[in-house]
Amino acid sequence: MTTVIDSKAADHPAEAGDATWWRQATVYQIYPRSFADANGDGIGDLSGITSRVPYLKRLGVDAVWLSPFYPSALADGGYDVDDYRDVDPKIGTLDDFDEMVAALHAAGIKLIVDIVPNHSSNRHVWFQQALAAGKGSPERDRYIFRDGLGENGELPPADWTAMFGGPAWTQVDDGQWYLHLFAEEQPDFNWQNRDVRDDFLTTLRFWSDRGVDGFRVDVAHGCAKDLPDVLPSQAALDATPTTDGQHPLWDRNEVHDIYREWREVLNEYDPPRIAVAEAWVASAERRARYASPDELGQAFNFDLLEADFDAGQFLEIVSTNLAEAKIAGSSTTWVFSNHDVVRHATRYGLPPLNGRDVKQGADWLLSGGTTPELDIVTGLRRARAASLFMLGLPGSAYLYQGEELGLGEVADIPADRHQDPAFFHNPGVDPGRDGCRVPLPWTRSGDSFGFGSAEAHLPQPSWFARLSVEAQDDDPASTLNLYRRALALRDELQTAESLEWLESESADVLHFRRPNGWEVVTNFGTEPIALPEGEVLISSGDLGDGMLPGESTVWLKN
Ligand code: NOJ
Ligand code: CA
Repeated sequence: MTTVIDSKAADHPAEAGDATWWRQATVYQIYPRSFADANGDGIGDLSGITSRVPYLKRLGVDAVWLSPFYPSALADGGYDVDDYRDVDPKIGTLDDFDEMVAALHAAGIKLIVDIVPNHSSNRHVWFQQALAAGKGSPERDRYIFRDGLGENGELPPADWTAMFGGPAWTQVDDGQWYLHLFAEEQPDFNWQNRDVRDDFLTTLRFWSDRGVDGFRVDVAHGCAKDLPDVLPSQAALDATPTTDGQHPLWDRNEVHDIYREWREVLNEYDPPRIAVAEAWVASAERRARYASPDELGQAFNFDLLEADFDAGQFLEIVSTNLAEAKIAGSSTTWVFSNHDVVRHATRYGLPPLNGRDVKQGADWLLSGGTTPELDIVTGLRRARAASLFMLGLPGSAYLYQGEELGLGEVADIPADRHQDPAFFHNPGVDPGRDGCRVPLPWTRSGDSFGFGSAEAHLPQPSWFARLSVEAQDDDPASTLNLYRRALALRDELQTAESLEWLESESADVLHFRRPNGWEVVTNFGTEPIALPEGEVLISSGDLGDGMLPGESTVWLKN
């Protein structure tokens, strides 16, 4: 089988003109409160990030994506924003932000910030004004307020369940109810309100003027809503397809009007600011709409993240997404881990999902990491192979802090140390996402393994020591050095956004070639295979006997 997939007629090498820098960039996600703590209060901060720019430069990433750093009560890890145009005083100041941008840019690293348009926090000045101004006021129209049902409006306007569990409507003192698709502290904006639209344009300009290179758009598929006077039930919502742009809440067609307006603002800058949509939609085709050049330009593709370590699944996902990106006029994105999911070094050490639609690793986390038994060695071996496969693909690679250390999920966080609302709203059902948000280990020892001088805000397990940066720095076989070498090679080799699948010796092996003779071979099976011809550039496993071991990837040059 030889299939050529060319995702864009024009070539877009990473080194190309500034306006296309993002197309094949390697983007490193920083969860700011868990990256590095400069002032020793146990919480990661912007100065901590600045102090680690040399680490990022040596790692070889093209850009950093910073999860929310805005003032926030942290009801949802910062995705509850009090003020979109400031820095949380707990983690820095606007001056610290400017210093961080300057340090990143001096190192040749771009910065993408997270923007959260679907909801603010309930401490946002507009929500406070909405509460004070009362029913029917223009202030209330910026959010989604409704009267309740029942004789005295004592029942919610609908029986909807929020994403973190619990009701999606909360009653305020004067009896009205407001909608929050996420936590109660995250009231949804009304995007039919012009103030809301204008304010986000102001925010886009505010950060773009400060040197930000792009935006990651949270819940991009949720902003447009169509809420009739009589609201549908949760059962009716669940039964409504999300495939045709007509669902009352998700992925509505008119959401794209918002992003077309954003694109005009983003294009006021030179180079244009980029944007990447977080859009959990029904198909690659629906996703491509967000990624079109007159909208956000790029959209996350979570398909690999949701797949098992399986050649068939990977083949299908890569082929589909390259084709869809071509239709959208975008480049595709790849991601295995982020701040919302169980880290892939852990997922791959658990039994495969086999297509079951469950949150991967949730059961294991709920058991405190005991059931089923985690195979750490297999998990890390597969994670290294999968990452090396992904870094060879056309498109942008999004990495999550700590994956370059082969970090696993932390399963034994005591209940009273958890922070994620998902954990509290759904006791015993949703383990929450704190296990992938534990502060990074920089050194083998010390109060918080070099994260800072105080105990970290989420407890770090003792096994972090052997995965610390210090422990891996000088070890040529370490995961950290695998990523460093791979990113450096990728920088040299990344070329036109196309690949050609080559014949492989079994269905468990994927082999593709990029236009310049760069080849990537991944053996998803457990038995070694004969190493295909070519100069070996890098491999995730030991090639000692001229074979490619099971569950490993090699890059070749021919
Ligand atoms: C997606 C973010 O990635 C997640 O962390 C957050 O909880 C929700 N959006 C709500 O903002
Ligand atoms: Ca701090």
